[in-house]
Amino acid sequence: MITLSVIKADVGGYVGHSSMHPDLMATAQEFMEKAKGQGLLVDFHVTRCGDDLELIMTHEQGEGNECIHKLTWDIFLTCTDVARKLKLHGAGQDMLSDAFTGTVKGMGPGVAEMQFEERGSEPVLIFMADKTSSGAWNMPLYKIFADPFNTIGLVIAENMHSGFSFEVHDVKEHRKVVFDAPEEIYDMLVLIGAPSRYAVKCVRHRPSGEIAAVSSTDKLYQTAGRYVGKDDPVLIVRSQGKFPAVGEVLEPFTMPQMVQGWMRGSHHGPLMPCSILQSNPSRFDGPPRVVCAGFQLAGGKLIGPRDMFDDPSFDEARHQANLAAEYLRRHGPFEPHRLPLEQMEYTTMPEVMRKLEGRFSPL
Ligand code: F6R
Ligand code: MG
Ligand code: MG
Repeated sequence: MITLSVIKADVGGYVGHSSMHPDLMATAQEFMEKAKGQGLLVDFHVTRCGDDLELIMTHEQGEGNECIHKLTWDIFLTCTDVARKLKLHGAGQDMLSDAFTGTVKGMGPGVAEMQFEERGSEPVLIFMADKTSSGAWNMPLYKIFADPFNTIGLVIAENMHSGFSFEVHDVKEHRKVVFDAPEEIYDMLVLIGAPSRYAVKCVRHRPSGEIAAVSSTDKLYQTAGRYVGKDDPVLIVRSQGKFPAVGEVLEPFTMPQMVQGWMRGSHHGPLMPCSILQSNPSRFDGPPRVVCAGFQLAGGKLIGPRDMFDDPSFDEARHQANLAAEYLRRHGPFEPHRLPLEQMEYTTMPEVMRKLEGRFSPL
């Protein structure tokens, strides 16, 4: 059994929150090489999306392993030091605790991990987003694993015809529920159509129960007790064979769906698929980005990456995202560009209300 772990954090932006300084990636690379040399990792790849440092690892330690989590924690801490020396923006932003307690879960970084038996051919796609939150995966996951207009394999491939099951997390009440698709899609859509409250955590093949996709759903504000950052989530998807084909997995991203995040984590904006090199959200600190690194696994080795959105067939999605961004921007401080009051990461509402106390009179 091999475990694929993707653990990420924003430990400092360059310039502002728009991108990442190369020294952070070089530092992470050094640590990872050492861990691989010591036999803790089978393989690794260090990359980024916007200002988020993304650590992709394969190993034989299983999910939630303390040594793997400690390795990434130490990397984020050391990178925070580098960020502080360069006075990068928001150094240590996602490091919400001083002490490591056996896991990075709930401490700021985002985590997606899956353990499985590597198949004869094992294509995996790793999606990474910046300036948005974990509910952003709900629509693409639904389309990939439950929508026959997106995934023709659900209709004409015998090994996918039984459908997939979705584990949905209620991020507010900290509880979960599993739905079988296609039988229960109407019930499921009531929940996952509200992505700020319900997020798809994982998807499994039916009837085998084999893991197909896992997302990070760690809401930072739950962790910090207040809203300190949109999660900038990650998602792992296995592909081909009994899972959707690479093209079926990428297809939902041709529609730049509206997500929460963007400037000050307080706006709606289109999710723009782009190459890793172009993941530098600059206009109004956005628009939100999604990148995808594709790999073939070979005995746990990460053969790749292929930069999956580095393809002119996604130009039109980028164009549409820019049109939607322009349209939304013209709303300025008004909803629905600006998020509803209770979902904004930045707010002056309590102070404004305090100031206005006594000035309100009954209608
Ligand atoms: C959004 C984001 C940025 C910042 C904004 C203000 O997720 O990271 O839009 O919220 O640039 O940043 P600070 O408060 O660090 O000056
Ligand atoms: Mg940042
Ligand atoms: Mg970020």
